[in-house]
Amino acid sequence: MSAKVLLTGASGFIALHVLDQLLAAGYEVVGTVRSEEKAEPIKKELAKEHPNGKYQFEVVVDIAAPNAFDAVFQKHTDLKYVLHTASPFSFGLTKSNEENYLIPATHGTKSVLESIQKYGKNVEHVVVTSSFAAIVHRHRSGDPTFINDETTWNPVIWEDAREDAATSYVASKKYAEKLAWDFVKDNNSTFNLTTVNPPYVFGPQKFTFGLARASLNTSADFVNKALKTTPEYEGPFNQPAGVACDVRDVAKLHVLPLGKKEFNGQRLFPVSDTGYGIEEYEKGKFNFEKILRILNEKLPELKGKISPGGIKDNEAELSKLTYYRNKITTDSTKLTFYKLEDTIYDAAKQILDYEASQK
Ligand SMILES: *[C@@H]1O[C@H](CO)[C@@H](O)[C@H](O)[C@H]1NC(C)=O
Ligand SMILES: *[C@@H]1O[C@H](CO)[C@@H](O)[C@H](O)[C@H]1NC(C)=O
Ligand SMILES: *[C@@H]1O[C@H](CO)[C@@H](O)[C@H](O)[C@H]1NC(C)=O
Ligand SMILES: *[C@@H]1O[C@H](CO)[C@@H](O)[C@H](O)[C@H]1NC(C)=O
Repeated sequence: MSAKVLLTGASGFIALHVLDQLLAAGYEVVGTVRSEEKAEPIKKELAKEHPNGKYQFEVVVDIAAPNAFDAVFQKHTDLKYVLHTASPFSFGLTKSNEENYLIPATHGTKSVLESIQKYGKNVEHVVVTSSFAAIVHRHRSGDPTFINDETTWNPVIWEDAREDAATSYVASKKYAEKLAWDFVKDNNSTFNLTTVNPPYVFGPQKFTFGLARASLNTSADFVNKALKTTPEYEGPFNQPAGVACDVRDVAKLHVLPLGKKEFNGQRLFPVSDTGYGIEEYEKGKFNFEKILRILNEKLPELKGKISPGGIKDNEAELSKLTYYRNKITTDSTKLTFYKLEDTIYDAAKQILDYEASQK
């Protein structure tokens, strides 16, 4: 099997795992990156890990620009699958929330779908990286009578979101995903569409060069922050908090649906150590306390060096968070997802080993 796959945003945290899994499965990959420099370290690693892999990179400077992907589809007329993981990067303090979030997120998705419509005649399946933010009902947190799942939608509307940066961010995710579903429906698109809706994404970087540039306030960075605490750390222990998943599972959910019609129209929702039944709901929930506890337990050498945590009854704290279920995803994919403690351990171990190697 050597079907050709377009992977947008190929240098991202999730995308590098996707790239690795695609090559391992024998696909030929065309990755888009914002600049040639972004592709350089990736090529170096791929030459080692996938010496026989078929891949190349194309530069798309601004994915939100009109016709941004036209040249790529005109050049690669044999693309069969498209994985749209790119999230536009246009953050500026002087810009409005609309310019920072809504416009880039929706225009990026629209831009890729329009290019497919115009030039991607052989495209059969498109997978779009969406977010749990597009699923979650923000005002029903901690309400066990409201279960967020693959069928629920964030009800936020832009008019209520625009004043606040965090709300603008979640709203933009919802609007970008909605745009994709509306686009294929209204335009009678012949390709199949699947979205992947991850909550907080944890886990190791595919390549350690990613550690050097792990950005602020990403899920990956929270493990680093926990490792940098001291025993005197005074909190907050309940923040960040939410539902977690493993980056390697998120990547799997991008690759698995390709060419499988049963995933047409599905939203796939990965959660750590998932299972069925109400008692299982808690397993994917995390807060900073839980990360600290996992680190103390799984890496005994850290005991006494990092914070032991500070919340006595963390189960009560976690129960205040969003209730969720992802049975549709686990039933249709038959995957068993990583356990949160293994995800956190693997991420922490990679950071510690990397730091030791830099000394
Ligand atoms: C998309 O999926 C449907 C089934 O949901 C199928 O009938 C159709 O042929 C698929 N399109 C492609 C291009 O595979
Ligand atoms: C359908 O396709 C056209 C042309 O590509 C696009 O401008 C339009 O927004 C699409 N419709 C929807 C509902 O997205
Ligand atoms: C899509 O299909 C419907 C029903 O067949 C039709 O009414 C509509 O005009 C089509 N839309 C486009 C953009 O071709
Ligand atoms: C990171 O998160 C903290 C706390 O949630 C917030 O105060 C800060 O503004 C964030 N920084 C960035 C760069 O987003």
